[in-house]
Amino acid sequence: MSIPAPPDAAELVALLDWYRAAGVDIAVGEEPVDRFAASLPARRASVPASAAPAVPPQVAVSLSSDPGETRAIAAAAGTLEALRAAMDAYDGCLLKKRATQLVFADGNPEASIMLVGEGPGEQEDLQGKPFVGRAGQLLDRMLGAIGLDRSRVYIANMVPWRPPGNRDPSPEELALCAPFLIRQVELVAPKFLVTLGNVPTKALFQTTNGITRMRGQWRDLVVGSHAVRALATLHPAYLLRTPASKALAWSDMLSLRQALDAAG
Ligand code: URA
Repeated sequence: MSIPAPPDAAELVALLDWYRAAGVDIAVGEEPVDRFAASLPARRASVPASAAPAVPPQVAVSLSSDPGETRAIAAAAGTLEALRAAMDAYDGCLLKKRATQLVFADGNPEASIMLVGEGPGEQEDLQGKPFVGRAGQLLDRMLGAIGLDRSRVYIANMVPWRPPGNRDPSPEELALCAPFLIRQVELVAPKFLVTLGNVPTKALFQTTNGITRMRGQWRDLVVGSHAVRALATLHPAYLLRTPASKALAWSDMLSLRQALDAAG
């Protein structure tokens, strides 16, 4: 049997590109671990041989710590700086272990408009700021189209650490991190809140309705102890994938502009 030649540099780069396209974009250890093989004996032992079906491999999931703990930590923070420091020190969310850094917020803490996204992506994780990748650039253009920029808004995410491979945050991760976001809303105390996409809309509007039903409608919400006028719109990442929906987002942006003008 002939031994295959080791891959050359171009093949290794192509392999890394392939991993990246598949969402495998961070290394979590120096050595590869075959978790399928590692979990096999335990699964075999727990199931009678006769009844052993083809069990799908167990994949490590994020832990869910206690949202009571994050609520207490968030409540104790009297300023945004204190909240940022407390979140940075908090180790109860596994997302943090896989992320490069905390992505706290961007923009103006004095702003009357707060935008809330889902969670950091790759660029946000690297740069430590929300919405700095392609979706963020589109968001900047959307804001620019109605005369706004980051000095006029405050931007944060439902989860402040990047979910690996850009997956959606799990319900447990959302529940765990929500007190941090809610406390940011209380401390910034915006007049207007704009949720970007499904995840923050469902969480903050407390609805199971999807974004296509919710977008474009203003609601009065109470987030923590803060009452705010809230509008849901489409996530810029969705608009990048579905440019035909940009007209809907544009109408939402115009609605925001009108509300700002009416508020004076
Ligand atoms: N998508 C989000 O929801 N938030 C970011 O910060 C970047 C992309």
